[in-house]
Amino acid sequence: MSDAVFFSDIDFERYRKLIYKECGIVFTANNRSILDRRLKEIIRKKNVSSVGEYYKSIETDKNELKVFLDAVTTNLTSFFRNLPHFTALEKFVLPAIIAEKQKKGAPQTIRVWSAGCSTGEEPYTIGVLLAEKLPPYWKFEIIASDLSLRCLMTAKEGFYDGDHMTGVPEGYLAKYFDKQVNGYRIKDVIRSKVRFDYHNLINIPQWRNFDIVFCRNVLIYFDEAAQLQVIKHFWDSMLNRSFLYIGHSESLFGMNTQFQFVKTEWTTLYKKWID
Ligand SMILES: C[S@@+](CC[C@H](N)C(=O)[O-])C[C@H]1O[C@@H](n2cnc3c(N)ncnc32)[C@H](O)[C@@H]1O
Repeated sequence: MSDAVFFSDIDFERYRKLIYKECGIVFTANNRSILDRRLKEIIRKKNVSSVGEYYKSIETDKNELKVFLDAVTTNLTSFFRNLPHFTALEKFVLPAIIAEKQKKGAPQTIRVWSAGCSTGEEPYTIGVLLAEKLPPYWKFEIIASDLSLRCLMTAKEGFYDGDHMTGVPEGYLAKYFDKQVNGYRIKDVIRSKVRFDYHNLINIPQWRNFDIVFCRNVLIYFDEAAQLQVIKHFWDSMLNRSFLYIGHSESLFGMNTQFQFVKTEWTTLYKKWID
């Protein structure tokens, strides 16, 4: 590392604390190299003289802070990621919600939140499945949020390179995507159902009344205190009969939450099931 981007232990500590306070993401000695690398890239791009100088700019400039937090996120995602989650959606979650709504005579609409949606593959996958699997006359709406402005731009665009489409079943590719030079664009019939918005999960969301929340492969970057805070926000924004998906390597086990663990034939998930 050159002197211009020398990152001392004291610098690391300051950055680590700021990132945690602002968005819940935890950096430790184990993943410090990721932060080192990303910070180095930003500092080169912005032509800033030192990590100390850059720290001052993110402390004082809210927009620069957003750019910085965006840069430290990990955005890996794909269409139909962890297929058993979507099989359970079709065969277990949707039938349970539909039965509840029919019992109550509630409106035939399903509201879903894809929290930490990255570049949009997750909410579009959900959109395709709801378009396919909901009974006739049922409607759906999807809110998709992230704190990465870069990712949200790609997500809104809805255009993906051809090599990104592995995982999308042939039939759905033909039906819900337009083939373009070098890639595919999600069709408006799905895109119009997904609303993308900037939201930092450690803040209280402005949305309510969700039937299903997907927050997969996001909590893994937080410590337990931040996870609990986020989970509480989900609880408050969900309907009394609703479901929560988290990543397959994530768990609420041992955490003080009101969610009930649900084991299905295909996967495990959580539910809020109260009167
Ligand atoms: C690894 S991706 C997961 C994407 C998708 N949910 C999936 O499972 O394929 C994690 C996403 O969480 C977002 N993220 C991390 N911390 C966040 C926070 N505090 N608020 C909102 N989004 C956050 C990142 O920007 C990133 O796009």
